Amino acid sequence: MVVRIQHLQQWKQQARPIAVLTASDWLWARLLDRAGVDVVLVGDSLAMVALGYKTTLPLTLDQAIHHAAAVCRGVEQALVVVDLPFLTYQESPQQAIASAGRVLKETGAQAVKLEGGYPDMAATVAKLVRSGIPVMGHVGLTPQSVNQLGYRQQGRDPAEGDRILTEALALEAAGAFAIVLEHVPPPLAQQITQQLAIPTIGIGAGPHCDGQVLVTADLLGFSETVPPFAKIYDTLGDRAIAAARSFCDEVRSGQFPAPPP
Ligand code: KIV
Repeated sequence: MVVRIQHLQQWKQQARPIAVLTASDWLWARLLDRAGVDVVLVGDSLAMVALGYKTTLPLTLDQAIHHAAAVCRGVEQALVVVDLPFLTYQESPQQAIASAGRVLKETGAQAVKLEGGYPDMAATVAKLVRSGIPVMGHVGLTPQSVNQLGYRQQGRDPAEGDRILTEALALEAAGAFAIVLEHVPPPLAQQITQQLAIPTIGIGAGPHCDGQVLVTADLLGFSETVPPFAKIYDTLGDRAIAAARSFCDEVRSGQFPAPPP
């Protein structure tokens, strides 16, 4: 089944949880699509897990587009959402339209994601949506603001929780089709999920969101540091090292390639 933004809305109404994973290249996008994920997110976390940067901030729009186009070539069913990189949309709604327009035109993705809420980002989202660009919001811990927030949980005190709820409501009113809630207390995520008509996608936000997202490198055991809320489903990193080591050993010992029959 080919997933479109309308399906996410339907699934919220049907209480059918939404599964989202990140990808940054053709190979992994193809595997995740075959596994049946609903949404493939070309997250700007690719700056860290694919390009080796310490934060998401250095990612450029050209790099995001390059990776997103490869992902789209590997996906047949899932909805593809692409993160707009740091400072490719915050300056003005016009800058956001230019960046998001390039993403949609040059990659084949169906939607963009951006971080932040009320008031500036809600106005930008409204402009994007009016221009025909589907937008996923992202509130709570917003990694593009790492130099202000760090990576700590957001929304712990009531005032901060109210601010995050207000941001989420403003993004919904602006026309966002879904919102990522990152690293917020589960009761806050539950309250936001109950108040919004659009789906919430949680990461480190507890079990009450309408969907869950993880960074694929974390769940497969490729990442050197994994956030406390991520679940490691396999340790492919260790298995890849072991396989490559076996290859090296066999080449050096003359075991591979085997002599021709
Ligand atoms: O960049 C990313 O991978 C993300 C997810 C953590 C939601 O934004």
